[in-house]
Formats: sequence, structure tokens, C-alpha cells
Amino acid sequence: MILSIDQGTTGTTAFVFDTRGTLIGRSYTELPNYYPRPGWVEQKADAIWWVTRRVCAAALERAGISASDLMAVGITNQRETTLLWDRQSGEPVSPAIVWQCRRSADICDTLNVAGKAELLREKTGLVLDAYFSASKLLWLFRAQPELLARARCGELCFGTVDSWLIWKMTGNRDHFTDHSNASRTLLYNLDNKCWDPELLDLFGIPESLLPEIRPSAGHFADTDPEAFLGASVPICGVAGDQQASLFGQGCTNPGDVKNTYGTGCFMLAYAGPERPRQPEGLLATIACDPAGQPAYAVEGAVFTAGSAVQWLRDEMGLIQEAAETEMIAQSVPDTRGVYLVPAFSGLGAPHWRASARGTICGLTRGSGRAELVRATLESIAYQSDELARLMGEALGLPIRHMRVDGGASANNFLMQFQADISALRVERPKQIESTAVGAALLAGIGAGIWSADKLPPRLLDIERDFLPAMAEEERNRLLAGWRRAVAACCAF
Ligand code: G3P
Repeated sequence: MILSIDQGTTGTTAFVFDTRGTLIGRSYTELPNYYPRPGWVEQKADAIWWVTRRVCAAALERAGISASDLMAVGITNQRETTLLWDRQSGEPVSPAIVWQCRRSADICDTLNVAGKAELLREKTGLVLDAYFSASKLLWLFRAQPELLARARCGELCFGTVDSWLIWKMTGNRDHFTDHSNASRTLLYNLDNKCWDPELLDLFGIPESLLPEIRPSAGHFADTDPEAFLGASVPICGVAGDQQASLFGQGCTNPGDVKNTYGTGCFMLAYAGPERPRQPEGLLATIACDPAGQPAYAVEGAVFTAGSAVQWLRDEMGLIQEAAETEMIAQSVPDTRGVYLVPAFSGLGAPHWRASARGTICGLTRGSGRAELVRATLESIAYQSDELARLMGEALGLPIRHMRVDGGASANNFLMQFQADISALRVERPKQIESTAVGAALLAGIGAGIWSADKLPPRLLDIERDFLPAMAEEERNRLLAGWRRAVAACCAF
């Protein structure tokens, strides 16, 4: 049995898989997020640990096994979220500053004015933004200078959520991370695959704070029975959640693409062992090769996807639950020219307009609920299409098929419209929890249970293919309308 832990922004899910790839137990618990000021998001580091320990125990109970039956543990996690703790006591010394938190935006602005964006992009593949860990850490040191003094004396540890969980699961002992998580900190050199001294200097981060970086598949450490479920189990797989889902989708050939339809959309394209060309607006990042060793991917994000459907439900009151949208959208032949651009928190790639706001265009007297619901689903596909085109540019080959996962990938209308508007084959796996599958596969490979060419097929099986069926003329007409709507949204 393999335990796969998916520690996400809204909660932790633990899965137990057997070695044939059958899911035999699962448990989920929500994690509170706190919003102390506008734009700030934090979590309690202790709660991340307690919730994780609790769901792991519950998943084992549901599977009817005990921790001593486990051959390996895999961890995948919300990325970039920044934690700081005391090396001696293992106690957190600050809240966990969540990836969405904007509190360090001023630090990024100052560095931008100082002309550091290009250096950072070249070294890390990332943009200079508060999204990533380094400015969050610097913010903590500026807010509490005594923390910096303690860090300089080697008394503290920094980590993303993977490091924190490994530290706690090993009874406050082992301080590790993997390349995929490290590549999201703005402190990691994407070419040399190590912490970068010049960047540590730039952000004033003492090196002693940092975890040791390991490949995603391999033996990290053994859990401490007193700290974690009463048994010593090897931790053999660790990856950031989007990279884990890329791996869990079997995307290990250059040009393989996955799109996760969650609150937003995260699209990653596997690039292989060479660092890819990086068009404006996309990130370069570390992914896992077939053996779980570091390779490259390009990544793009749509900020608002599933949350636009929540908006239909919670603010507009047009639906009772997300699942209804499929039938409502299919009840009309098209949107009758209505476009919705859900720029509720600005527009991401390729527009990068933080100030853009949501816009509805093309309303007529006959536009109703079904048209608006359909336009909302279509907007998710249009935005993903823009990313897919950029990805194709980055890799120098058009994207012909795309693996999908995440909650909204269950929506058949949306998947068919995506296939139509992007003229590509959309492949939905049977197990849409690709993130957890990825962590389980990495742990299985790392523990020597599976190998790159001998993976359990059940974990990668396709449930349904959606093939493009739209005439090119129609596609071009719809895309032209979308571009006009985006221009109107940006001009507002
Ligand atoms: O980069 C942020 C991402 O890793 C968060 O994922 O699934 O926790 O929202 P999720």
C-alpha cells in the first residue's frame, strides 16, 4: 500500500492505493484560511500538520490497514506557501503565508524599479511577483527583525509545505524539499538546479535556513513512529501539486500538456531535459522526468475558472450547484453572441492586466440565464485556449491533445467546447485526482515498487476522449468575438 498526501490550499486529502493502482481508502478535511487584511491570506502552520495527520489516520482506517502496512508515502502540496519554524522545538514562529497573499507586493515593486526582474526571470524562470516565496520570507524578516537575527544564528528553518510536513513526520528531524517545490521560491537557479547565492544575497536570506533539495522520487527520510501514525515508513515521493498532476497524467514526453480546472486553471507542458524557450507571460519550472528526476516544463495560469461558476451560484443565484451548468449550457445552441470575461482578479497570461475587471458583452433583450451560464463555461475554455497557444509557441509545436483534471473537468459540455475551440483532443482520465496519483507514482518509483516503464495502468487509464467537431470558420468567428470581449474588458 502507498499513502499519498495532497496538502492543498483549501484542505488536505489522503489516499491509500494498493500496488495495482486501486484506490482503497480516502479522507479529506478542510483547512481554515485567514484574511487579516485585504489581499492577505494566511494559514496556521500547526493546523496544516494536525489536519494532515488526522486525514492520513482516517484514510488508513477507511482502507482497513495500519501504517505498518505502508510501503511508502508520497507528498504533494500547495506550492510557494512560506513557513518558518524553530529548529530546536519544531514550533512555527510565524503564520504560513499562503501563495495567494499579496502582502509582499511592495517589496517586489521596489525590486522591479531596481531593475531586478530580468535577472530573476533568467535565473529562476519566474516573474518578480509576491506569488513566490522569497519576497514573503523577506517580508517576515522586515516585520520581525529578531527573526532574521535568529535565522543568522542557524536557529530557524524555512520551508514550503512539503518541507514542513517532512519535518513534522520525521519528529522534527529532517529538513528536505524537492526540485519542483524549490523552483517556486525565486531562490532556485533553474539552470544549475540548486539554491542560487546571488539570489539569496538579493533577498538577504541566510543559507542555513534552507532545506536540502532532492529529486522528487527517491528515499527522503523515514517517518518517526511517535510523530506519525505509530510506524516508520519511508517518504519516497515529493512534488508540488501542479507538477505532481503533470506526472500523474503521464505527461513525460516533450509537448505533453495537462490542464487542471480548479478555482483557476493551471496548465503545464512537459518540455524535457533542456530548459525551454519562455514566451512573455509563461513561467519555466521544474517538472519530473519519467524516473522522477528533475526536468523542465512551461506553466501558465488562468486566475478565474471554477470560481466563475461559484460566482454564478453564490452572487448571481443563477444555479443551485455547479453540476447543473452542463445541462443548462446544453439547453441552448449557443450564447447568442454573449461573452463573459471573468477578470474578477485581473487577467493572467497572456494579457497580464492586474487592473482588468469582469465584463459581459453582447447582451440583447433575448439573453437569459442559459446564455450567461453557457458564456461562463465557454470563458474557461477560451482562457485555457490562450494558454495552449502560448505553450505551443514555447515548445515550437502545436498542442494536439491535452490531459485534463480538477473538479470542472467532470463537465462534459466544457470539455467538448474546449476540444472544439482549441481544435485538440481532450483526454479525461478515470481517476481525475491526478495530483494524488502523481505523488503515489513518485513514491512507488522512489521506493522501487514501480519503474518508469512499469507503472500500474489503472492509474493512467483514460475515461473519455473529446474530439474537436467544430468547423474552422465557426471557431474563428467565436475566437474573434472573444478577442473583442477581452479588448473591451481591458479597456474598461
Ligand atoms: O501555485 C499554487 C498551487 O500550487 C495551489 O494549488 O490546488 O492548492 O489551489 P491548490
